[in-house]
Amino acid sequence: MSKLTQLLCLADLSQEQVTNLLDLALEIKRDPDRFSTALKGRSIALLFEKPSLRTRVSFDVGIHKLGGHSVYLDQQNGALGVRESVEDFGSNLACWTDAIVARVYSQKTLVQLAHSSKKPVVNALSDLYHPCQALADLLTLKEHYGDLSKVHLAFVGDGNNVCHSLMLGAAILGMTLTVVTPQGFGPDAHVLLKAQALAEQSGAKLTLSQHVSAAAGADAIYTDTWLSMGGRADPALIEKLFAPYQINTAVMQRLAVKHFMHCLPAHRGQEVTSEVLDSDCSLVLQQAENRMHAQNAVLVSLFS
Ligand code: CP
Ligand code: NVA
Repeated sequence: MSKLTQLLCLADLSQEQVTNLLDLALEIKRDPDRFSTALKGRSIALLFEKPSLRTRVSFDVGIHKLGGHSVYLDQQNGALGVRESVEDFGSNLACWTDAIVARVYSQKTLVQLAHSSKKPVVNALSDLYHPCQALADLLTLKEHYGDLSKVHLAFVGDGNNVCHSLMLGAAILGMTLTVVTPQGFGPDAHVLLKAQALAEQSGAKLTLSQHVSAAAGADAIYTDTWLSMGGRADPALIEKLFAPYQINTAVMQRLAVKHFMHCLPAHRGQEVTSEVLDSDCSLVLQQAENRMHAQNAVLVSLFS
């Protein structure tokens, strides 16, 4: 297997690499003590241009559990590219740290950090992708269903970064994925092409629709915020356009879907009702917990 050197986008990984990461994540979850020195002596920068609860804490705690040390950098002490260029930021960070985990506005910033630092960079969310989230989500589905090639996931909502990473993950692993978005809010055309090419190799079934009914019979329905961080659309207009795409109990029952998923934070009463979010069919806290195990698998793989 080729070694994991960074994680900017799931499309950079082979099916074998993704499968191995999920298996390793399960192993780390089952027997964390075995990995308690995996990052001994390593320092990892956690760089955030946008707010975060789950990603920040799961990386910080996860690195500690692997015996490493993390340094959190927000934008209070010099915003990325403002006090100094992204490249200078990256080359300086490389003097002290072994890897950079970064949540950024633009995917390009991750590429600049990777080039200037020559250290592994892990995408902790960008405008285009959220690979760590998708790995945790795939791990969650694997725990429930085992063979992911037999799983049908439906993503309903905005064709955003989370949707993109799920598309790539599903395409790599040969899953069935139905993406339901309002007209004009579908996934990015380049990402779609990438996912379609990967699906052709793996046998994954990727379907796009503007009708929630296309999600009928899926094993799980996934939704996310209608307006992502950094999004500039008019919130009132978004609320009106997306209202028919809300996931509520009636939709879950009508479509006969067993599980509900969301990356969080959720906007209760918008993309999902509290009744569904807090129900027994909701996997959201398992997804949140799995962020740490999936990310730790990535970090262990980078340094082994
Ligand atoms: N799901 C997720 O990335 O959550 P945060 O924005 O809180 O990190
Ligand atoms: N699509 C959301 C995900 C948040 C974890 C955003 O980018 O804001």
